[in-house]
Amino acid sequence: MTGTREDERHESLGIDPYEKNWLRVSAALLAVFAIAVVAAGVGFGFQVPGADGRVDPRTVTQPPSPFANPGLRQIAPGEYEVYILAQMWAFTPRDLTIPVGSKVTFYVTSADTQHGFKLQDTNVNMMIVPGHVSKLSATFERAGEYPYICTEYCGAGHGQMFGTLQVVEQGGSQ
Ligand code: CUA
Repeated sequence: MTGTREDERHESLGIDPYEKNWLRVSAALLAVFAIAVVAAGVGFGFQVPGADGRVDPRTVTQPPSPFANPGLRQIAPGEYEVYILAQMWAFTPRDLTIPVGSKVTFYVTSADTQHGFKLQDTNVNMMIVPGHVSKLSATFERAGEYPYICTEYCGAGHGQMFGTLQVVEQGGSQ
């Protein structure tokens, strides 16, 4: 009893040879895309904004919350951390100054609604959700002005919600 071509086809789960080839091509493409995403992420230093912790938005502006007294703190030579409170419709603080070459870790939360925090010319771009602290780091090798803006529509004053990070040459103001 010899099997026909049709029988063989059914034995191999009924997948047409052409279809099988295209499945292989699709799988290979997915692998290439996955590798490209990882390679680009590592190569360009992409960071996923980390949810650093949960906070209660009702008490976030009261001690002992670090957002009760937001601002810049030096934690090591050339290393800073900054706590920024987003609130309709301003960032506190609105102005920051650091020496060139510094590494800064940003901790941002919201006391009311959803905001965004995007620092121009850097990879820092986060969604700011009440109850969460969003955290990202950046190193500033170039002196200059880096504006930060709210990138989520948050009401009438959304367009006025911005601040400026000044990166200045060591030992002098610019
Ligand atoms: Cu805050 Cu838009």
